Amino acid sequence: QAAQKGGYDTFMEKEIHEQPYVIKETLRGRLGVSDVVLPELDLAKIDWKMIERVYFIACGTAYNASMYAQDLFRTWMPKMPSFALAASEFRYGDYYVDENTICIFVSQSGETADTLAALNLAKEQRAHTISVVNVLDSSLARKSEVTLYTCAGPEIAVASTKAYTTQLVLLVCLVLGLVQHWKETIPQIQEIVKDLDRMPEIIETILKEDSTLQEYAQLLKDKHDAYFIGRRLDYYSVAEGALKLKEISYVHADAYMAGELKHGPIALIEPGTVVVALATQEEVAAKTISNIEETMARGATVILITFQNQDTSKFDRVIRIPSIHPLLTAIPAAVLLQMFAYHAACIKGCDVDKPRNLAKSVTVE
Ligand code: G6P
Repeated sequence: QAAQKGGYDTFMEKEIHEQPYVIKETLRGRLGVSDVVLPELDLAKIDWKMIERVYFIACGTAYNASMYAQDLFRTWMPKMPSFALAASEFRYGDYYVDENTICIFVSQSGETADTLAALNLAKEQRAHTISVVNVLDSSLARKSEVTLYTCAGPEIAVASTKAYTTQLVLLVCLVLGLVQHWKETIPQIQEIVKDLDRMPEIIETILKEDSTLQEYAQLLKDKHDAYFIGRRLDYYSVAEGALKLKEISYVHADAYMAGELKHGPIALIEPGTVVVALATQEEVAAKTISNIEETMARGATVILITFQNQDTSKFDRVIRIPSIHPLLTAIPAAVLLQMFAYHAACIKGCDVDKPRNLAKSVTVE
C-alpha cells in the first residue's frame, strides 16, 4: 500500500495532489476557443426545442457538484426551469418528469443505489438521461442515454476529492454544451474557456497553500464545531467544505448561506468559534464581509478565502484565490477546503482514508 500511496502518507493526500493532472485529463479535447466539444450530446435523440425542464440528481459530494451545475445552468438559461435534487428525495418527491425532461445524474462510482433508482424512475417516465460518472462501465454509465466520464482515475480514500473537482470542470463543460444547443449566448465565454484551460496550473498554485491550511487547521485542535459561510456560488463550495470536514475529522461542521446566518445560526457563535468564510464573488462580497464581521463581533475566529482585490485589512487569516473568472472559483476553493479538512483530521489523529461509519459507495437505499 505504501507504494500505491506514491510517497504520500494517505490516499486522500495523494488524491488531493493529483488534481492538476486529472482535471487536465478530464478537459482533454473538450475546449475550443469560445465553445466546448461534447460529441456525446449528439448521440442523444433530444429535440432541443421541446425540452421544458432540467434536473440535476445525485448524492453526497456529487449532489454538491450538482447544486453548482444547476446554478450555472440557471445563470445561462434563466428561462428554462432547472433544479438540483438529492437522489434519495427525487424518488419520493413527485417531481414532474416526462419526455421533455432532461435528467442529469452525477456520481463517482456510478453505483449509488439512490441515484440508480432515480435513473430508473426517470427512464420509466421517458426522460432523457445524461450521466457524469467516474467509473467506466458502471451501472449508471451503462443505463444512461449519454455518459460523460470524469477522468479522476481510481479514488481510494472514502472522502471524495479529485472526483469532485473533475465533476465540477466536466459539469461546467456539460452546462456550456447544453446551452450551446439552445444557441443562447454566454457572456464572457472566451474567458471562461480560457480559465478552464488554465485550471491545472491554477490548482498547482493553490496546492502551495498547504502549509498555511495546516496552520489554520490547528485552530480546530480542541474544537467540536465549525461553521462555513458563503453567498451565491460560494454556498455550494462551503457545503462541500463542511461535508469534507465532518466526514474525516468528526468536527460538527455546518454550512450556511451567509445571509441566513442572522436568522438562527449566529446564536451559536461564541468567542473562539471557528468560521470559514468564502467570499469569491465580487458582486456580493461586501454583503458577505458584513456577515463575517457580525460573527467577529461575537468573538469568532475567521478564516477568509477571497479573490485578489478584496480589502482584507480587518482579517488575520486570509487566503486569496488566483485571478480567475468568478463562475469558476468553486474549483480552486474546493481544493483549499479539502486541504483544510485533511489537516484538521490529521491533527485530531483520525483515520483519514477510512472514516468511521462511511462507505465509498452506498449500494443500499
Ligand atoms: C458515499 C460517499 C460520498 C459520495 C456519495 C455519492 O456517501 O462516502 O463520498 O459523495 O456516496 O457517491 P457517488 O459514487 O454516487 O458519487
